[in-house]
Amino acid sequence: MNAPDIFSPAFIADPYPLYRTMRDDHPLYFHAAARAHVLSRYNDVRLATTSAEFTTQSYATQLEPLLGLTIIQLDGADHARQRRLLAAPFRTDNIRASFGAAIAAHAERLIAGFRERGEVELVAEFIAAYPVGVLAAILGLPPQDRDQFRTWYTALLRFGLNLVGDPEVTRAGLSARDALDAYLRPVVAAHRGRPGASLLAMLANSEVDGQQLSDDEIVRFGMLMIFAGGETVEKTLATFMRNLVAHPEQLAELRERPELMSRALAESMRYTAPTHMIPRRTCSAVQVSGGEIPADTEVLCFLGSANRDERRFAQPDRFDMHRADLDSDRAFSAAADHLAFGAGRHFCIGAMLAKFEVEVAMGCLLRAMHDIRFADDAPPPDFGLFLRGPTSLKLRYRPMHR
Ligand code: HEM
Repeated sequence: MNAPDIFSPAFIADPYPLYRTMRDDHPLYFHAAARAHVLSRYNDVRLATTSAEFTTQSYATQLEPLLGLTIIQLDGADHARQRRLLAAPFRTDNIRASFGAAIAAHAERLIAGFRERGEVELVAEFIAAYPVGVLAAILGLPPQDRDQFRTWYTALLRFGLNLVGDPEVTRAGLSARDALDAYLRPVVAAHRGRPGASLLAMLANSEVDGQQLSDDEIVRFGMLMIFAGGETVEKTLATFMRNLVAHPEQLAELRERPELMSRALAESMRYTAPTHMIPRRTCSAVQVSGGEIPADTEVLCFLGSANRDERRFAQPDRFDMHRADLDSDRAFSAAADHLAFGAGRHFCIGAMLAKFEVEVAMGCLLRAMHDIRFADDAPPPDFGLFLRGPTSLKLRYRPMHR
């Protein structure tokens, strides 16, 4: 069989059988339309995310025109410095103490809109509004500015997903970027020297070895957060709920034993990775299991395939929160065995925040909704090439009164 075309309708409809073909028969190949080599086996994708021979310079064309130079593109000492300065606000204890109550209140507010109805289209009524509200709350934006923030957020995301290069989407994205930059810059400046509970205040006052983040670095990071921590969380929540409802015995067990939540979430992220692909560029020739990748070459690393590699996970196409080959204690740290958050030095800095917000949302939803089932009697499919998840999730349930 030919090497799979990642832009083909068959791939976009269901990449998993084609991932298997890639792993078995084409563990390294050049994809002409993408002008990049493709990696799909677990060991090769892990190597590409952890070895210094693979850089993140690919983001220079993908993200820099929108956000400027951000942490994702940095390497070496510059990258390590920013990671150290950003680390504290993203620790779980900080997230829980500073933002836990606001995140739970936001979830409950959204649920109040449909709680008593017994049916909901969860993507439209909860998931699409949840992470954007969490981001606005933790950045400390005043509630009256939230609608404006949502407009910017949507325009930035549409820019990022504008594969066909629609000029109107490009124009709107760049103008949202400028407006958000102008909005955030004075807020950051006002926080300098005034420690506070919002993330912007924490970043403006975090210091390691006498060094601080510059205003420019904080503004760019704020925008990167919107970019990296919005739709990824939406996809995670949508696939997690879909996977649980599709496996009622595991959902029932989770209700009985809520302490299994992080185990179930870790398995959901392995089974249906929200981010299917991350790019890399080689700085020298590298040996992988399928052969040699030349220097200065773009490489597409398929996390979605690596997480289903039968060389690493037993019966990888089964959703099983009790699987022995996934350590849920480490699943949200750089020592994770699944690759949904990447690995190595660029391992997702928002992993603990994502875990926290998804677990809070799922806890609130499960308490409000009992006997959850698919309104259309079948699990909805995933859509999307690089970010995948259901675009609609119609559920019926028995309302639980408080
Ligand atoms: C479940 C949701 C999320 C998923 C699946 C996810 C996935 C990822 C992946 C795969 C990477 C590695 C990219 C690469 O190596 O090229 C990454 C990096 C990153 N993520 Fe996340 N992410 C999520 C949530 C978040 C959140 C909530 C934030 C912040 C608010 C965030 C901020 C970042 C940043 C800043 C990086 C770059 C880190 C660096 O370069 O050192 N992510 N994420």
